[in-house]
Amino acid sequence: MHVFVTGAGGFIGSEIVRQLVAAGHNVVGLVLSPRKAEKVRSFGAIPILGDVRDPTVLARGVSAAEAVVHLALPRAGEKRSEDANEINTRGTDFLLETCRDLTLKSFVLASGAGGIYRHGPGDWVDESTPEDPWTPATRDRFAIDESIRRAHREWGLPATILRPPVVYGVGSGFRDYFLDLLRRGIFRVVGDGAYYVNLVHVEDCARAYRLALEGSAAGDTFIVVDDEPVRMREFIDFLAREMGRRPPGQVPAFLAKLVAGRDAVNILTRSVRFRNDKIKARRWRPSAIRLMIRDVPSPSGSRGSVNCAARRIVELGQSSRSSLSFSASSRVL
Ligand SMILES: NC(=O)c1ccc[n+]([C@@H]2O[C@H](COP(=O)([O-])OP(=O)(O)OC[C@H]3O[C@@H](n4cnc5c(N)ncnc54)[C@H](OP(=O)(O)O)[C@@H]3O)[C@@H](O)[C@H]2O)c1
Repeated sequence: MHVFVTGAGGFIGSEIVRQLVAAGHNVVGLVLSPRKAEKVRSFGAIPILGDVRDPTVLARGVSAAEAVVHLALPRAGEKRSEDANEINTRGTDFLLETCRDLTLKSFVLASGAGGIYRHGPGDWVDESTPEDPWTPATRDRFAIDESIRRAHREWGLPATILRPPVVYGVGSGFRDYFLDLLRRGIFRVVGDGAYYVNLVHVEDCARAYRLALEGSAAGDTFIVVDDEPVRMREFIDFLAREMGRRPPGQVPAFLAKLVAGRDAVNILTRSVRFRNDKIKARRWRPSAIRLMIRDVPSPSGSRGSVNCAARRIVELGQSSRSSLSFSASSRVL
């Protein structure tokens, strides 16, 4: 299939490009910088340099496309939320307009699960849970999802919406906010860390995109998440241990909000557990823990050789599962 990917040089986008090319698809990727263009080219895809708010660039991108993946949607927090929202809204509007006259097989939107569903502390949530975005940033993002759903209803855009919670792997926010701060000894757990964090590895996440693109789930929304949520304190202590660091201390939520922003801290600390039955019914499976261990830098700071990393996976696989005891805890916040 000919696939156009926006945000092709990003954390999730570049892994999607890599997997699509490996699966035999012809990929054109929209990127903002020559450096990202080089990255996309190195995977065997064709980069197009430009802004998602430029209709001319989008027209070039979709010229041969049979499918589109839309990830050029910066998160509030990485940019000022008004700036992020402006890119998200105008970029998506232009992309929809550009796709309107095409006969696409599929269109996959990058959305997110955090801060979208109504729930009490520690509740299990799935796609049937009422949507009730409860932060300014998630309300903005939800409006994008709604514009995609409208296009599906009104003119048949074959759209699928994917909602991962926290995507981990070496790159992007996970490296900046977790691994790097832990390595430097300045990471702090917000509050007591007893709340659940819901994770999915970037390779698993990208595979969900590929399956959505190749399958027939138009008009549907999927939460893309590992089998079991884990409590933040357990997760961080596990990462610290694997990196040869002491368990980090904690910071009160009000202080964390000054650094990381109110929305981000609220979303992270409002305990919730996401289910993945719906996407698993589409033959998607997470491979979680092994991949995570491979990504954790060794105490020396490097990720080591491939052989060394492989041995660490084997050695740590068992102990990590039990020490994290994802499902053993029955306490609900
Ligand atoms: N990572 C997560 O944990 C997570 C969780 C849930 C949902 N999501 C959603 O998934 C999507 C992708 O996330 P990500 O982690 O891969 O983020 P990312 O690495 O920041 O990717 C966003 C991409 O958008 C591109 N972009 C930004 N402004 C643009 C513009 N004006 N024109 C063209 N491209 C533009 C960026 O290009 P440059 O790379 O050149 O800056 C980047 O490649 C986002 O919508 C995010 O909200 C992510």
